[in-house]
Amino acid sequence: MSKKRYRIAVIPGDGTGPEVIREAVKVLRAAEARHGFSLALTDYDLGGARYLRTGEILPTSVLQELRGFDAILLGAIGHPDVKPGILEKGILLTMRFELDLYINLRPVKLFPGVECPLKGKGPEHIDYVVVRENSGDVYTGAGGVMMKGTPHEVAMQTALYTRHQVDRCLRYAFEFTRRRSRRKTLALCGKTNVLTYVYDLWERAFHEMGERDYPDIKREYYHVDAICMWMIKNPEWFDVIVTGNMFGDIITDLAAITQGGLGIAAGGNINPDGVSMFEPMGGSAPKYTGQNVINPLATICAASMMLDTLGESAAARAVEEAVTWVTANKVRNLAAGQMGYSTTEVGDLVAIRVAG
Ligand code: IPM
Ligand code: MN
Repeated sequence: MSKKRYRIAVIPGDGTGPEVIREAVKVLRAAEARHGFSLALTDYDLGGARYLRTGEILPTSVLQELRGFDAILLGAIGHPDVKPGILEKGILLTMRFELDLYINLRPVKLFPGVECPLKGKGPEHIDYVVVRENSGDVYTGAGGVMMKGTPHEVAMQTALYTRHQVDRCLRYAFEFTRRRSRRKTLALCGKTNVLTYVYDLWERAFHEMGERDYPDIKREYYHVDAICMWMIKNPEWFDVIVTGNMFGDIITDLAAITQGGLGIAAGGNINPDGVSMFEPMGGSAPKYTGQNVINPLATICAASMMLDTLGESAAARAVEEAVTWVTANKVRNLAAGQMGYSTTEVGDLVAIRVAG
């Protein structure tokens, strides 16, 4: 049988992005050697440095090329000399919209050995996944500002959802819950008591689809404010949570800290029918740039999600197992500069384990 070959676009990006990407690539190379597939990596220079140098953010030609890859792996975007919003909208959100990466999949898993800020909670209590809708809500940019700078300034930014967006996200979440084969419970996180249009749409669509197509899956509903309490007090209640874009953004940072922080939290921006992009949840952490102290595990976990999506599930599992071994035996504090190992050493530990 000929080896499977995948074309991967790599966007190291800004700040510590290139350092964490280097370690993820090291681990991918180890997996490649062991699991009989090959990766053709193409680097793309996008981010704040390029913008400051050339004024280019995400050239249309690059966007067009990205569509031709099997997956995209991204380090971090964000530069202290660029005004907030420019790179986020110009690169990250544009990629989400243009490539229709309508699912943001964020696993919340406390790895063994990792210090958890929740009293009395261990790996057996924190293991769920948030399916964040990634294309609608206040992120669409619908709105505007009038009479700017005057005492009568009006600012408006609208939460917008179409039935189509809601249905395709719910479909993904139900299917994902079924495949995950744990407790088969899907919780909708909304705010039906205040956002009586948008989350009423979500709630009706949720129960209609669940009742019709997924009788095997238990449905639950939580208001977003309440779920923030329960994610802290009883994280073991959750299996899969599905929610809109803005709430998903917020609750996944809360979730990340319960699994040890941004050092290990990864996400996939997924188009189930096209190319998907994988990234650590954290940003470019400019103050740590070049110091070899940033934690590469989140990016390594993102690479593992990428392998899984490509269909290399054995390799994906091997990488996750290697991370599990490293947290259980070596790196317990996941914060940058407090790991007790350098960025490259952590990458080596995982890669050696993957290589077997
Ligand atoms: C995330 C980030 C982005 C978001 C920003 C950088 C645009 O916070 O991926 O969670 O809000 O979605
Ligand atoms: Mn966020």
